[in-house]
Amino acid sequence: MSLAVGSLKALKAADPAVYEAIRAEEKRQRDKLLLIASENFASPAVLAAQGCLMTNKYAEGYPARRYYGGCQNVDTVEELAIQRAKQIFGAEHVNVQPHSGSQANMAAYLSVLKTGDVILGMDLSQGGHLTHGSRVNFSGTLFRSYFYGVDRTTEVIDYDAVQRIAEECRPRMIVVGASAYSRILDFPRFRTIAQSVGAYLLVDMAHIAGLIAAGLHPSPVPYADFVTTTTHKTLRGPRGGIIMCKAEHAKAVDKTIFPGTQGGPLMHVIAAKAVALNEALSPAFKLYQQQVVANARTLASGLAQRGYRVVSGGTDTHLFLVNLSGNGVTGKEAETALDAAGITVNKNAVPYDEKPPAVASGIRLGTPIVSTRGMREPEMNEIVSLIHRVLERPQDARVQREVRKQAKALCGRFPIFYAYDAALV
Ligand SMILES: Cc1ncc(COP(=O)(O)O)c(C=O)c1O
Repeated sequence: MSLAVGSLKALKAADPAVYEAIRAEEKRQRDKLLLIASENFASPAVLAAQGCLMTNKYAEGYPARRYYGGCQNVDTVEELAIQRAKQIFGAEHVNVQPHSGSQANMAAYLSVLKTGDVILGMDLSQGGHLTHGSRVNFSGTLFRSYFYGVDRTTEVIDYDAVQRIAEECRPRMIVVGASAYSRILDFPRFRTIAQSVGAYLLVDMAHIAGLIAAGLHPSPVPYADFVTTTTHKTLRGPRGGIIMCKAEHAKAVDKTIFPGTQGGPLMHVIAAKAVALNEALSPAFKLYQQQVVANARTLASGLAQRGYRVVSGGTDTHLFLVNLSGNGVTGKEAETALDAAGITVNKNAVPYDEKPPAVASGIRLGTPIVSTRGMREPEMNEIVSLIHRVLERPQDARVQREVRKQAKALCGRFPIFYAYDAALV
């Protein structure tokens, strides 16, 4: 941590305004119950690497094939990241340079598609991601996008409908993956559908990469032409992306990342990706992911017992949606009330939502952070009670004050494991 400690001390003297904002953020992360499904707390080692002086190095190109001198050390970390990702996921080719999940998806598309080609992805309003063809995203403006979704009754992906829609729209690529879907994805079925219409298969495993690394969700790697991920969600690394593919697409993917869509790689982030991937190879990581899923199940069933409708009736992963339309509160109101009570979630559209996305009928809850803090089933039951107290009276400021104290006390029993306080002194 020495570099990070040094830099923070220097930052305090050089720029008190930014330093104070970081301190305030540290307090927020320390004192609130954070249930945002896409977030996690990276380890001290990951933070140290991400905050290191490899940010100073330009390294356009790839290991041993750079456009700059002096790349020996950054080559080492990029090779380590690639080898570790291959070891974990078994991919034929890995590129660790995407700056984010969105950039990884852009590279997957542009390595084999032309503008105007048809793509078929999961509807954003039913759990998909913006980069899977949304009109407000590059994916929906560069390509002609079509969507599949979930069955109205089961709220699980309707695979027969996916097959039907694929036959109708004849996509060049089918995109699988989601930001708000709690059930196991059937990759072999998607492969069959893609093959039947001659489409490439892209699996965006951003949310579930940690579960896949730990063997708790089936891997898409044997079935997909391209697999993309973020590194900062369940995988618990630095913010960033990775793209994997079959060997036949290796050259195209590398060229599409650089020079196609990115410039110099963020070598400090790639160093941190290597560290996170090493952590993901440890037995402790598997236990962590098991706890993430167990905690999500406990939270979901606890809320269901208190009268909340969990979308699709439960979860197989780290997250789930709660449909609040029968509880007299909107997603937006719930998000505001819970945050005032020290519990951070996000409002989320539920399948076939009649409310606009800015209001939404549901909330999305995820357990990666509370599990990283060391919380287990008993704490999930406490959180259920706290959430219920707030949502019963979403306008009651007194309840929010009381719950905020309880949430802070619960967090106090599970300090942020990386001793962030010490690093900031
Ligand atoms: C499924 C999925 N893909 C891609 C992304 C985009 O990742 P990033 O925010 O790093 O661009 C997200 C982010 O939430 C996501 O949920």
